[in-house]
Amino acid sequence: MKLFVSCGSPQCLKVLAAAERAGLRREELQEAGPEDPVVPFLTTPRLPALQLDSGNFLFSANAICQFFFLSLGEEPSDSTNQWLEWEVTQLQPVVVVALYHHVVQGKKGEEVLGTIRKQLTYIDDSLAEDGKPYLTGDRESVADVVLWGTLYPLISDSSCFLEELKSLQRWFQQMNFSEPCVKAVEFMLKGKGCQVFKSHLQKQPLPVIALEKPASNEPEEGELAERIISEEEIMAAVETWTRGAAACPKLHQRQHPILPLDNEKNILITSALPYVNNVPHLGNIIGSVLSADVFARYCRLRDWNTLFVCGTDEYGTATETKAMEENLTPQEICDKYNVIHTNIYKWFQISFDYFGRTTTTHQTTIAQDIFRRLLDRGFLLTDTVEQLRCERCQRFLADRFVEGICPFCSYEEARGDQCDKCGKLINAVELKKPQCKICKASPVVKSSKHLFLDLPKLEERLEKWLDQSLACGDWTSNARLISRSWLRDGLKPRCITRDLKWGTPVPLEDFKDKVFYVWFDAPIGYLSITASYTDQWEKWWKNPQQVQLYQFMAKDNVPFHSVVFPCTQLGAEDNYTLVNHLISTEYLNYEDGKFSKSRGVGVFGDMAKDTGISADIWRFYLLFVRPEGQDSAFSWNDLMLKNNSELLNNLGNFVNRAGMFVHKYFDGCVPEMELNREDKKLLVHVTLELHQYNQLLEKVRIRDALRCILNISRLGNQYIQINEPWKWVKGSQEDRKRAGTVTGVAVNIASLLAVMLHPYMPSISVAIQEQLQAPRDLNLLAGGFMCTLPTGHKIGTVSPLFQKLEAEQIEALRKRFGGGQLKTGPKPEVEVKAAAPVGDGARPADPQKVKELAAEVMKQGNHVRELKAKKAEKLLLDAEVSKLLELKKQLSLMEGKIIDTPSQKGKKRK
Ligand code: 2FM
Ligand code: ZN
Repeated sequence: MKLFVSCGSPQCLKVLAAAERAGLRREELQEAGPEDPVVPFLTTPRLPALQLDSGNFLFSANAICQFFFLSLGEEPSDSTNQWLEWEVTQLQPVVVVALYHHVVQGKKGEEVLGTIRKQLTYIDDSLAEDGKPYLTGDRESVADVVLWGTLYPLISDSSCFLEELKSLQRWFQQMNFSEPCVKAVEFMLKGKGCQVFKSHLQKQPLPVIALEKPASNEPEEGELAERIISEEEIMAAVETWTRGAAACPKLHQRQHPILPLDNEKNILITSALPYVNNVPHLGNIIGSVLSADVFARYCRLRDWNTLFVCGTDEYGTATETKAMEENLTPQEICDKYNVIHTNIYKWFQISFDYFGRTTTTHQTTIAQDIFRRLLDRGFLLTDTVEQLRCERCQRFLADRFVEGICPFCSYEEARGDQCDKCGKLINAVELKKPQCKICKASPVVKSSKHLFLDLPKLEERLEKWLDQSLACGDWTSNARLISRSWLRDGLKPRCITRDLKWGTPVPLEDFKDKVFYVWFDAPIGYLSITASYTDQWEKWWKNPQQVQLYQFMAKDNVPFHSVVFPCTQLGAEDNYTLVNHLISTEYLNYEDGKFSKSRGVGVFGDMAKDTGISADIWRFYLLFVRPEGQDSAFSWNDLMLKNNSELLNNLGNFVNRAGMFVHKYFDGCVPEMELNREDKKLLVHVTLELHQYNQLLEKVRIRDALRCILNISRLGNQYIQINEPWKWVKGSQEDRKRAGTVTGVAVNIASLLAVMLHPYMPSISVAIQEQLQAPRDLNLLAGGFMCTLPTGHKIGTVSPLFQKLEAEQIEALRKRFGGGQLKTGPKPEVEVKAAAPVGDGARPADPQKVKELAAEVMKQGNHVRELKAKKAEKLLLDAEVSKLLELKKQLSLMEGKIIDTPSQKGKKRK
């Protein structure tokens, strides 16, 4: 274990105190410079960081503190967790700003503490109320150390100003005198006081500090305006405002085919290709197409040269099976479901530039070309595999198509992969009296030759590329962790062929009855779909110098996009464009469980429109709860709440009031505006939010950026409320002028909101722009907050944008979608792609290799259990768990078992 700290970073204080308390040895502590890239995969150096014995890193200060407390066997109580959450969401955001004023700007006393008084009082009240010495009771907990560390730099030399907060003061002194805290302060401050933090804080301009404000922290009214702003900021904001829309460049007309251009930012966006035979549920939609759509719309608003492509993933066993079920040919199934997908995405207003499919001649040509290049360059291997084959059906059988007597307990209906009675994992070829589930005939064991992609041979290249892509790109943390953890233990060869008919044919005489495995084939779909869009597709896909590739997906798709497909591309050596930014979500749950088609639980894409709730509201809510960083859940109640509070009361109310004032009091014409100091300050606050919105969206932090929009409309509501134009308008000439200014500023904020809303709620955005007759074809986001509706501008007809959702309506919807529609019996939830004939490369019968892999599985299992016991960070845990699952799968494959699919779909999660 090694703890890295930087004495300039305030966050290190609490970590050191916690480490001291846990008895960290001196040699386990290492000082690093603030810019040292200690955690190799973070794009911006970040300290503190704790490297665990496994080699993994913790780099959230609070997680590290928790780790140390857990190492002493001190599990957090609910109350401890609540304090930790409060510290992150309520305390830290104000403390960073206050600390900046204190350390960098030299402000003191009340000027500093005033801005965090509310939080200090809250702590004081809690301590006083419980009458206990520590935050969570009689014993010091990790919450005490964390809060102390956060507050220390700020109040250590202003604590005399805390006079009336007696309980807080007592607690703070007591913490200050505890040995771990004394030692931490000595180590960090070295007697120099809080000036040691100055250079760190200086490097973080205020808006960036504000950026760290957590998304869930929805400020209360009045809170936003507390940020202290400088004269320079005011001057700059007024200048931008005054420049107005006239100074704003027009957005370029987009003309198809869109191709990369010299000296432009060329952005290629893909969302994971949905399986054709499943109707996507809300979780699938937010995970890929909707997230990608927000980003694509944002890029177009910034006038970046953007192409967004997607299409249905159509090959594989699942399609063959569906075809049998529905008595259609596989192609007919694809045709039918491709239309269903297309209609769903159209309803959700997903703005693909092209939505294609994988069953095209382009797919065959490109996939076979890549295959040949890999073959010619020696990146393919051949191996033999044993599988069950039904001679009557003329096919090799995937696990779920075999049934037989369990070799362990003799249960008669054991499945091909596991016995439901004794629970043991089964190797399908070991089943006694195996039966083909389709025709009931007895399958036979057959050997079959397959081709493998030699990933070990490509590993070095991959690693080099990945290091570079992670360093320069915006990869989500789960994508980084999953990819690293795949590489950590070395890659194994992967089988890329299947004994199926419905797929891209393998162009070799010896393999003429085989097709490519879908996970080899599907990512090539991105290229072939682009080829269906334009014959100049190579300008996008063989042009890494000019193109930035953003790929959106749920986390189970990550390894195929960060390891397997890039290896395919690197091995083919044709100057392919590789992913620069990999954006993967966690999972969206439905209420407190999972979406399930077979149980009729959850809202599926084709049903959303039957709810009477508009596509924009669906989009808003899904984006509001987008599982960024951790799993989240769709909840009907929450949907109602967010609609009624955020959309109706906050956003809709503001836009409607602003428009109505213009209409009612000023004949529909924007009145004259003469800004006073308060108005100018408001311009700064709006500008800061806009700035933050841009910064977040540039980093594809979609959910957080949505909060900026809501913050601006909160500011707007507050502004109207304080300035009461409806009163002044009835007063003197001067009073009326004041009402005019407030109205004019407000309606201009509404016009800005319409633009910012466009990526999230395109129809509402257009509706506002129509109501206000606001300009629509300008590049308005980059330039700051401008007066786009000048004095004299005539607005259109104003009408309400949102409707209240009623509890009864929501209850009825919950009843309708919340289960209880059990059909004949649950079907297996696993999505079958194709029978995977063998493990990644090792000969099925090589007992030594099996033993090695089994040992690896055991090792990884222990590692996961340890992490669980230590309550390690969820991201880390998830990555290690998916690694474990993958290893287990490889093991069962190597043991000769046929398994269904390598993807760990959300459905399979516990
Ligand atoms: O998980 C899925 O839905 C896959 N159909 C995604 C494929 S993405 C790409 F590789 F085509
Ligand atoms: Zn059969």
